[in-house]
Amino acid sequence: MFQSIGFLGTGQMGGALARAAVKGAQGARVLLANRTPAKAQALADQLGCQATDNQTVAAQCQLIFLGVKPQMMEGLLKSIAPVLAGRKDRFVLASMAAGLTARRIQELAGADYPVIRLMPNTPAEVGAGVIQFCGVDVEPGELKDFQTLLAPAGLVDQVDEGLIDAACALSGCGPAFCALLAEALADGAVACGLPRDKARRYAAQTMEGTAKLMRQTGAHPGAVKDAVCSPGGSTIQGVRVLEANGFRAAAIDAVIAAFEKTQALGKG
Ligand SMILES: NC(=O)c1ccc[n+]([C@@H]2O[C@H](COP(=O)([O-])OP(=O)(O)OC[C@H]3O[C@@H](n4cnc5c(N)ncnc54)[C@H](OP(=O)(O)O)[C@@H]3O)[C@@H](O)[C@H]2O)c1
Repeated sequence: MFQSIGFLGTGQMGGALARAAVKGAQGARVLLANRTPAKAQALADQLGCQATDNQTVAAQCQLIFLGVKPQMMEGLLKSIAPVLAGRKDRFVLASMAAGLTARRIQELAGADYPVIRLMPNTPAEVGAGVIQFCGVDVEPGELKDFQTLLAPAGLVDQVDEGLIDAACALSGCGPAFCALLAEALADGAVACGLPRDKARRYAAQTMEGTAKLMRQTGAHPGAVKDAVCSPGGSTIQGVRVLEANGFRAAAIDAVIAAFEKTQALGKG
């Protein structure tokens, strides 16, 4: 197991993963660093771990999460490259940057360090995330330890690197698509007279419940839909309106658009 785990960037995603890593670390040291140090300090106080600076994380941690935006990655890696180059011990870089390949991370870091590329999503913050990951020049045991470390974040699944951009378009971007749907459903209910707070709670619970039903029963989404659509009933009328407005085509196109943008980000 990694004995020391560090985060460079504790924003939305880095922060969510740090939260999970503290739970999965089995007593290992967790260090947090962020451009605005107060953010790392506040999270460290909350999680009971240590805030520090980038150079300390780069010099001391066996697993180093790179939690900055893709366009900031080059600058970050350049700034820590001399420290990494000076290390005699083994360490693994873990990049969550959309679009950047593991090989690109090695290039930017200046050497063929072991790199885990992961694609998390924001529900990781509450232990209900999806994280795909793959490794380049990483030992199988390290990949297993990585999976165990992040298990408190949700579903952690190893995939070929060639699938990461597609996974990003679905589960990385998906919380925005799901939230948009929840908001729209709640708006509809408000239009029908339901108070806003109830509409929001019911929409979120309905989405969570439907997801749980599909996961626990293994039911096909079409079967879950069919089970609600009584012949001549109300639900099928709603389904008819969604189909007439291109709901499914829009959802498919949204994922494809996100995929294309992710690939473009990777090409710089
Ligand atoms: N958000 C998502 O849903 C999601 C999903 C999948 C993957 N990702 C990936 O996760 C990464 C982070 O995204 P995010 O949404 O978490 O962004 P974010 O909330 O803006 O977090 C980025 C963090 O990096 C810090 N930072 C910037 N430059 C730094 C440096 N040189 N050294 C240390 N810290 C630095 C920023 O500090 P400040 O406090 O000073 O701004 C900020 O806290 C991205 O590569 C993104 O592609 C995000």
